[in-house]
This record gives sequence, structure tokens and C-alpha cells, in this order.
Amino acid sequence: MKNNQLDSKCRFFREKLMGWHLESNKREMPWKGEKDPYRIWLSEIILQQTRVEQGWAYYERFLKKFPNISALARASDQVVLKCWEGLGYYTRCRNLIHTARYIAFERKGLFPSTYDDIIQLKGVGPYTAAAIASFAFNQPHAVVDGNVFRVLSRYHGLSTPIDRPEGKKLFQSLAQLSLDKDQPGQYNQALMDLGATVCKPQSPNCTDCPLKKNCTAYKTATVDQFPVKSPAKAKRNRWFYYLIPVWQGKIPLRMRTAGDVWEGLWEPPLIESARPLRFDALLKQLNETFEIDWPTKQSSYERVNLRQVLSHQEIHGSFYRFELQTKPGNFRLFKWLSAKQRSVIPYPKLIQNYWAEVDSHE
Ligand code: ADE
Repeated sequence: MKNNQLDSKCRFFREKLMGWHLESNKREMPWKGEKDPYRIWLSEIILQQTRVEQGWAYYERFLKKFPNISALARASDQVVLKCWEGLGYYTRCRNLIHTARYIAFERKGLFPSTYDDIIQLKGVGPYTAAAIASFAFNQPHAVVDGNVFRVLSRYHGLSTPIDRPEGKKLFQSLAQLSLDKDQPGQYNQALMDLGATVCKPQSPNCTDCPLKKNCTAYKTATVDQFPVKSPAKAKRNRWFYYLIPVWQGKIPLRMRTAGDVWEGLWEPPLIESARPLRFDALLKQLNETFEIDWPTKQSSYERVNLRQVLSHQEIHGSFYRFELQTKPGNFRLFKWLSAKQRSVIPYPKLIQNYWAEVDSHE
């Protein structure tokens, strides 16, 4: 496509999108129109890997508990992680804590106000930096998220895979070309909202779309073929065997220090495996890893199986619960915690699901 054709296709896009935003966009969300960079940053970190419907309640809970960056910076890691519990991708939360303290204590609470400074913050990538810079500081940076890939790939009929460096570059420059540089915040929000309410992944409402007259995919009846992604890699399977020995209502737990996504969260004794283990193999590993006498019969345990599917891995969890008559002496590194103590510490989603499952039966 010639440059002037592309320019005019982008201009049509921008003008129709902004017209739709003013007249027909009815979407309401608590962070919409927000100007406070702390609130925008918080909402964008929550929404990075979370759907709006789920993130909404967390956003409000965080603001209630931590109304400003100084309140968040002064809270303990465990209190913030507990508030985050259930959202997953805990690196986001650890970065949130780190960045809040950096801004509160090393920048006297002053949020950076340019794209180049914002992107230096831990946990902030090009997408989040563009969102904060445009929403809070009216800087002309286009956001590129899943919505933007979808809308732009359909509108321009582009088959370049969106998850390859080449596709990322192409859509980034197209997004920047389409941006309304006078009202970048409004434009970015309009595009996300159009992607979420009209140009949806499944069953898009093309009849209501302000762009349809010029949309290549609509005109060629290929809307369902965009965006194009490279073939998905197989997920890594992991088997997690959790032991839940109960002594006088207490269960041994420790904070995970594996340097992975669950670091800082609490878990009971665990055997991890790349393959499913037979019961005798599990017992052997238990005896080697934790020096106590585990019951040797499968029937002594109450077993619950739970599965968790993450973006790159699938966890097959098995929880083995049993009652102990005496407290084992040599259970180093674990704290024996009562139900009350257990209720205030943060857990990985799988373990949280397990507590919910057994609590509902008790
Ligand atoms: N996803 C990420 N940021 C968003 C926002 N500001 N509005 C709607 N969805 C979003």
C-alpha cells in the first residue's frame, strides 16, 4: 500500500474511532478518565494478565487498603501479597511493591511523568508505559495490547503473526501511525473499548462497528481469520504432590524460596515431579526428602486432586491429608500453623483452591 493510502486509511480509523467513543462507547470502568498516575499504574498492572471483570474488584480493594503510593510502600510484603492472592502471576505483585517503595522513598512520592522514565520502572513494559504516559500525562504513545493487535490486524487485513518480533514491530508502528496525538489517552481507551465490546475475539459485532466500511477483514468476510498467531508450543506438565499432615489442627507450612513465580507464597511439604509418580515412588521420595515416618498405605490419606492450567504449564496437583498422633520433631524449615494463622498468609492459587475445597466440606 502506498504511503498516502495508508495515511488516509489510518485517518479514517482514528476519526471513526473517536466519533464512536464520544457518541456510542458506553463502557464504564472505575479507572476510566482517571488522571492520578498511581491509580492508573495500579489498574494497568492488575489488568496486565487479568480480565477486566476479575481485576475490577481487586483494583477497588487495593485502593481501599492502599489509597496512595505511600500507603502501599509502607505495607509489608505479606499484606500486599495477601491482597493480591488469587490474581496469579505474582511477579507483578512483587514488582508493584518494589516500584511503590522506589517512588515513595527515593523519588519523594513523585511519579515519573515521561514515557522514557516510566518505562524504567520495574514491572512496566512498553504497553503499560504507553498507557500511563497517555492517560495520566497526555503523552502521544499508542498502546499495543491484545485488543489493538486484533482490531488493527482485521482492519488492515494483516497476516503477520502478532507474537513474532516482526509482527510486534509492524503493529507497534501502525498503532503509532493511527494514534490521535492530540488526545492520546482518549484514543487509547477508545481502541481498547472497541476491541473489548465490538471487535471481540469471538462473535464480533461488525454491524455496529464504526470501521466496517474500510475494514479489510469485514469486506472480505475473513474477520474470524485474524489475528494470526504462530502455532502454540506444548505446555510443560508438572506433577505437584502436597502432603498435609495434621497435628492438633495444625499443618506445617513454609514460605517458598524457589526463585520462581510462587516465591514468597506459602506451601505445605511438596514433592515436585516432571512425571506422574506411583504411590510407592512418592513414599520413597518423601522419606528421602522429609525425615518423618509417613503412613505407608494409600488408604491412610484423604486425597484431593486439583489441576491448574497456566499460560506455559499445566500443574497436576495431588493433596494427601492425614492425621498425626504425635508432632514430628525433625520437621525443620516448617511452621506448624493453626487454621487462624493459615487464613492470613498468601498461597499459590492451587493451594488456595485446595483450602476452599476442604473448607467447604468441613
Ligand atoms: N486492559 C488494560 N488496560 C485497560 C484499560 N485501561 N481499560 C480496559 N481494559 C484494559
